[in-house]
Amino acid sequence: MSLPENYSIRRMVSSDYDRGVLTTLEALTVVGTISKYQFQALVNKWESLELNNGKFMYNPTVIVDGDDTVVATGMILIEEKLIHQCGLVGHIEDIAVRKDQQGKQLGKILINHLTQIGKDAGCYKIILDCDPKNVGFYEKCGYKNNGLEMEIRQ
Ligand code: ACO
Repeated sequence: MSLPENYSIRRMVSSDYDRGVLTTLEALTVVGTISKYQFQALVNKWESLELNNGKFMYNPTVIVDGDDTVVATGMILIEEKLIHQCGLVGHIEDIAVRKDQQGKQLGKILINHLTQIGKDAGCYKIILDCDPKNVGFYEKCGYKNNGLEMEIRQ
């Protein structure tokens, strides 16, 4: 399984604001109005936070097409815990593939890439929450259903 010709996958950078990363995220949910300054400040903050082993804590990732437009995005956030001898847990978050780019294996390539980042960092498990309609997609990426999500929302 490989990316279409001229597509590439890499860490998100602050100039992705101008490559449509927020429009791509709208395939997932409401994004709201985010200024370039706010976006760049957050990407720079993610860049500055490291784990004890020197790996990035936040791993925002994009797939860009041949025109340098962001067509898919996602994150693995790595949490440092006390349990499991100060173990690491990866949280896969905010996965979105542009509607007109869905069905080309981009989501699967993105999840495989994020999963590898988590494994390389030493996570003893990698977890995510998803809508029941996406269970089949995550199963195709090798994930297993292991319970329910609970939430308080405000
Ligand atoms: N249910 C079952 N199977 C699916 C689904 C689904 N909803 N979506 C894709 N698949 C299958 C495909 O048929 C394909 O199967 P194959 O390997 O046998 O050919 C395989 O999963 C891989 O599909 P991709 O082409 O990689 O999927 P795509 O690029 O369209 O990405 C995604 C899937 C991420 C769910 C996309 O449709 C999307 O962005 N949806 C809107 C936003 C969203 O729901 N994001 C997930 C939120 S959960 C989270 O962020 C942790």
